[in-house]
Amino acid sequence: MKIGILTGGGDCPGLNAAIRSVVRKALASGHQVVGIKNGWKGLMSLDIIPLDLNNISGILPRGGTILGTSRTNPYKHSDGEKKILENLEKEKIDALVAIGGEDTLSVAYKLYKAGVNVVGIPKTIDNDVRGTDYSIGFDTAVNIAMEAIDRVHTTAESHNRVAVVEVMGRHTGWIALYSGLAGGADVILIPEKPFDIDQVCKIIEKRHARGKNFSIVVVAEGAKFKVEEQVDKDGTLIVQDLRVDEFGHVRLGGIGNLVADQIEKRTGMEARATILGHIQRGGSPTAFDRILATRFGVKAIELINEGRFGVMTALQGNEITEVELYEVVGGLKTVNPELFEIAEVFFG
Ligand code: F6P
Repeated sequence: MKIGILTGGGDCPGLNAAIRSVVRKALASGHQVVGIKNGWKGLMSLDIIPLDLNNISGILPRGGTILGTSRTNPYKHSDGEKKILENLEKEKIDALVAIGGEDTLSVAYKLYKAGVNVVGIPKTIDNDVRGTDYSIGFDTAVNIAMEAIDRVHTTAESHNRVAVVEVMGRHTGWIALYSGLAGGADVILIPEKPFDIDQVCKIIEKRHARGKNFSIVVVAEGAKFKVEEQVDKDGTLIVQDLRVDEFGHVRLGGIGNLVADQIEKRTGMEARATILGHIQRGGSPTAFDRILATRFGVKAIELINEGRFGVMTALQGNEITEVELYEVVGGLKTVNPELFEIAEVFFG
């Protein structure tokens, strides 16, 4: 069989480990593999390269993706699907492995319904893909954020400040919750639970009253003020949602500054925001992500060998399994409320 592999959406550590695993298992199963450059974009323009043991050598610990990636969605182009079907036919690609988040996997599902033999692998530092406990990249991002929180901790303590650490997570608060729990945050703010800024300040003031001269607030970039909290103490509108510019690019660094600003105004304590941004998506993957990616890659080829398509590899508990793509697409996996309640025990 000739198998095509692509990475779509935002990059993350562990993609190369997955590519390596898919290629090695596919070659061992007697298949041929081609890499599709820059996600679905490369399948529309037929930008492909052969993949063999030589060009995947040494990529296991490397961040990013040797194939490149893009957020191109062929279904937003009038002839996108047609082009892809023609190109798959032309190149005689029998099966596709699509590594991506919800958007990439939605395209994979639509192509499957159009007759393409496709298997998905979940990746996103946001960990919001349904049907799997973990996605490639999440563990690394959490560890990077945790280390940053630890570092910010010591300087906040020295300066008697409130440190606000903004982490990624546009729609869900998995990184904020995990890194906040691991880093001992005093408050964690997530998109799933709009927050009351006065409540946040109360927690900080209570800490202050018991002699703690600093606080750590972890905020997901997609966290939101409660509607009634949109106006600050002076009656000025708190500006939010400046995160997508006129080109549709996501601009990071909005909410962290707003929260720090409001805390300073309302409590009189000095506050500083640290925006972690793309640092969370760069560099070498953790052992967990390397192993997860490797297990997913092997499973994807096993599924292809069994003729099982329209599915995604998944981690459930400690088991690698598969889920139907239709169960994955059309929504996101939001933060587990019980876990958030555990985090709340440690607020303040
Ligand atoms: O989906 C992953 C993610 O890192 C989000 O957490 C973040 O909002 C977004 O991508 C940033 O996108 P870009 O790299 O396109 O600016």
